[in-house]
Amino acid sequence: MQQINTIAALRAQRALWRQAGETLAFVPTMGNLHAGHLALVEQAKAHADRVLVSIFVNPLQFGANEDLDRYPRTLQADLNKLHDLGVDAVFTPAVDEVYPRGLQAQTVVSVPGITSILCGAKRPGHFEGVATVVSKLFNMVQPDSAFFGKKDYQQLQVIRFMAQDLCMPIDIVGVETKREESGLALSSRNGYLTPKERQQAAIIYQSLQHVARAIEQGENVVGATERALADWLAAGLTPDYIEVKRQNDLQNPTPSDNELIILAAAYIGTTRLIDNLAITRK
Ligand code: PAJ
Repeated sequence: MQQINTIAALRAQRALWRQAGETLAFVPTMGNLHAGHLALVEQAKAHADRVLVSIFVNPLQFGANEDLDRYPRTLQADLNKLHDLGVDAVFTPAVDEVYPRGLQAQTVVSVPGITSILCGAKRPGHFEGVATVVSKLFNMVQPDSAFFGKKDYQQLQVIRFMAQDLCMPIDIVGVETKREESGLALSSRNGYLTPKERQQAAIIYQSLQHVARAIEQGENVVGATERALADWLAAGLTPDYIEVKRQNDLQNPTPSDNELIILAAAYIGTTRLIDNLAITRK
């Protein structure tokens, strides 16, 4: 497995693969890899001749009060995992390689509408940072396909809209969420939780399932989400949001929308976790 740090070396490798007629699947990550990331890699492998994973903790997508400095960095362990999975190359650029003119001077990619709600409303600038770095990575890597987790469903849809709007010839593939036995979605941020908080956090997915059942039984959505918020408070969580949207553009569903998604965010102590569950209303 190659480790590539510069855009020049990446382009040289990409050219060789292209000359050989090989397709390339890309998995962007911020490292601290867990089984959720590895599921993306497995799918990418099944999809293309070559797989490239990027590990880059992107400063542009962290707010001033967020966890950029304490975000877990575990490069050697990550490289070992990717090597064992048979990944062809890992791209690990320095911040200066990605943002040579500095963060303030960087041209940005902004996807209107879908980025101003849910996590976008709670984390101003976050999705602009994500869309900007992903479009830069797409231009550097020039993959045929790119793999994103449904765990970050709003991010996945933002990337889909961006790729569509900017005519990027890349197949965007969404991959199912990997969970712990308790139902808790795997996340790098779970590492911030104490054992007790980890138990508390399992209620997020339980609430998503309760709301899904209520909707399937034709119950009132507002009543179901309000019950979930009350359950979270009783379990010691600080609610951020739990909302039901339509799957495509995350706007409020009309009565004729049947492809729905329940999206949730909550704080356990100071750690903010997100999750979601897609349902089809009959
Ligand atoms: P990161 O949080 O490292 O996640 C990388 C990819 O792994 C994302 O597509 C995310 O949705 C996916 N992922 C995380 N947890 C998962 C789980 N439990 N099951 C399945 N997939 C999971 O998301 C980012 O990095 C960044 O925003 C990035 C896209 C790399 C841009 O900087």
